[in-house]
Amino acid sequence: MLALPLSWPLENRQVVLIGAGAWATRKLTLLRRTPATLHLFAPLADLADALPRWPQPAELADAALIIVAFEDRAMAEKGAALARTSRAPLNVVDFPDLSDFHVPAIIDRGSLSIGVATGGTAPVLARETRRKIEAAVPPSETHVAAFATALSPRLREIFPNTDDRRRVWETLLQSPAAEVARTGRIDEALALALSHIDAPRTGVVHLVGAGPGDPELLTLKALRLLSEADVIVYDRLVGDGIMDLARRDADRFYVGKERSNHSVPQAQIHELLVEQARLGKRVVRLKGGDPFVFGRGGEEVEALRQAGIDVHITPGVTAALGCAASAAVPLTHRDHAQSVTFITGHAKDGDSENNPLMLDWSALSAPHHTLVVYMGVATAKIISDKLMSHGRMPDTPVLVIENGTRRNERRMQVSLCTLADALHATPPEGPALVIIGEVAGLYQDTAAAVITETLRINA
Ligand SMILES: C[S@@+](CC[C@H](N)C(=O)[O-])C[C@H]1O[C@@H](n2cnc3c(N)ncnc32)[C@H](O)[C@@H]1O
Repeated sequence: MLALPLSWPLENRQVVLIGAGAWATRKLTLLRRTPATLHLFAPLADLADALPRWPQPAELADAALIIVAFEDRAMAEKGAALARTSRAPLNVVDFPDLSDFHVPAIIDRGSLSIGVATGGTAPVLARETRRKIEAAVPPSETHVAAFATALSPRLREIFPNTDDRRRVWETLLQSPAAEVARTGRIDEALALALSHIDAPRTGVVHLVGAGPGDPELLTLKALRLLSEADVIVYDRLVGDGIMDLARRDADRFYVGKERSNHSVPQAQIHELLVEQARLGKRVVRLKGGDPFVFGRGGEEVEALRQAGIDVHITPGVTAALGCAASAAVPLTHRDHAQSVTFITGHAKDGDSENNPLMLDWSALSAPHHTLVVYMGVATAKIISDKLMSHGRMPDTPVLVIENGTRRNERRMQVSLCTLADALHATPPEGPALVIIGEVAGLYQDTAAAVITETLRINA
């Protein structure tokens, strides 16, 4: 370690900034986020609220810190020489050789601040690392930090022993109170925390959308919940690599289902969720796509509520949105489709042949309308026949996307009248989505486009 990152409280402290131009403005913006009393000197008279001159040595005597910020080295050296008349530690922006300390790249989450330091040797690396941490510590942590700051004195009174206090903090920061704080309702969170301090830990279930497959499509909230979970109950559709992001020592239950092959009946999944929550565990029920789009999330919420379990929902990118984005096919377009409908091709009892899908086929067959069919491979013939018999043109473009957003994504562009035969000839092996409508005609097979372009250039 080249440098020791320190944390310096600035309440009731004086900080002097001497500088000019963009560098000084940036430092001023940062310093204004602290509670320090600022004394500003701008010898080039270009900094608002600053005295337009160099400071006198007496004006530096009580400074806790001095920052000098000039792009021009001669000016920076002059500022540093003046600063040296005081005993305050000095930072000269971007001139580590003139400085006593460096200011790290900072992630500002209110009373929680995170600094990334490289000892002044690699500021770009520090900024890159900060970007990654920014993603892992979302802005809502500012509220949690405010909650923790407000609760801290009270907890010190109730738990004078440090070890006891640490244990209570560990529980509280994973509790529903912290969840409420994250939404900015600090007073409510404090009341909840205090009312629960002596109560036994109660479990909670989070229904979390894992998106269509690509782990980068997880939300920040989903990522956080996965890293905090005691138990994860997950589906077949949860993409590869996503479980690698979960807390390593979490208990994992696979309840994946194949179509018409329910490996774990839904009622048993409900029992498992209730049982784990009753043990006081933080349970993440991780579901492919979004939990409330053809995901039986509604049934799970009902079962958990009936059992008196606290349940929260974190949405995910549903397959229709993930697949459309991946294939660069807009689901609505001012010239081609003014509305979009998501339907399932899977009947409730799984027997779509004898129990045809109960849908408003006339409405679904209207032109300039996009129809996205989930679980529609087995019933593609019924669906295309119904649409054509209700007026949809046989040459309506259709795009089938298998394993959308995953490394093994496959796409097939056909028309409504050839859909069933095409699926019969090359049946998808992974989850597949069918997009029907004018917008599917906008799909461009980029591989084909590259070949066409090469032929054109060579001609
Ligand atoms: C039980 S539904 C779950 C839908 C999920 N809740 C969602 O919001 O995407 C499963 C169906 O979603 C579609 N699906 C899910 N992930 C997919 C993917 N990566 N590519 C294509 N289709 C997908 C398929 O039609 C699959 O049969």
